[in-house]
Amino acid sequence: MIIAIDGPAASGKGTLAQRIAQRFGLAHLDTGLLYRAVARDVKRNGGALEDDDAAVKAAQGLDPATLDDPALRGAGAGEAASIVARIPQVRAALLEVQRTFAGQPSGAVLDGRDIGTVVCPQAEVKIFVTATPEVRAKRRHLERQSRGESVTYEAVLADIRRRDERDAGREAAPMRPAADAVLLDTTNLDIEAAFDTAVGVIMKKVGQRGRT
Ligand code: CDP
Repeated sequence: MIIAIDGPAASGKGTLAQRIAQRFGLAHLDTGLLYRAVARDVKRNGGALEDDDAAVKAAQGLDPATLDDPALRGAGAGEAASIVARIPQVRAALLEVQRTFAGQPSGAVLDGRDIGTVVCPQAEVKIFVTATPEVRAKRRHLERQSRGESVTYEAVLADIRRRDERDAGREAAPMRPAADAVLLDTTNLDIEAAFDTAVGVIMKKVGQRGRT
C-alpha cells in the first residue's frame, strides 16, 4: 500500500504521515527533506540558491544518508528548499529515490507537495492536508519558539504565504490536490482528530480494495 500525503507548510502533514506510517506498519519518507538537503548542499559547495546549475548538480549528487541532519529543520531551510524545488531538473533528479522508496514491499507513506500528482499517481490513498495560513503560522511559530528560535508570528506568516505562492505557482509539479485526493482541513482539528479522520479515510479505501 502506498499512501500519499500532500499539503502546504505546517498543515500538519508531516506529523500525520509519521503517525499513519506507525499505525499501519509502513515506512515513511518526508520528501521535503530531499529539497532541504539539496539547498544545504548548494550552500555547502559555496554556490548560490539562485544558480540552477549548482542546484541540479547538488540534487544529482545527493546522498540520502544525510537526511537526518538537524540543520535541515533549522531556520530558513524550508524557504531555501522551495527556491531549488522550482527547478524541473532538480525534481527529476529526486524522482527515482522517491519512487524506489515507495516501491518497497512493505509499502510506504510519503509526504510532500506532489506525491499524489507526480511521484506516486498510483497511490491507493491520497490525502491533501490544508489549514488557513494564519493557523499554520501559529503552529509553526510555536514549533520554532519551542526550539529556542526568536522569530515573530508575522515573520512566520509571511514565510508561509511566500512559500505557498511559490509552491503552488511554479510550473514544475505545482502543489495541488490530485483529482482523486481526499481533502482534510485541519484548521479546527488537533492532531488526534486529524489522525482519526485520516485513519477513517484509509480504512474505507482498504475496505473498498478488499471488496474488489
Ligand atoms: O515542513 P514544511 O511543509 O514547512 O516543508 P517541507 O515539506 O519540508 O518542504 C520544504 C519545501 O520543499 C516546500 O516549500 C517545497 O517547495 C519543497 N517540496 C516540494 O517541492 N515537493 C515535495 N514533494 C516536498 C517539498
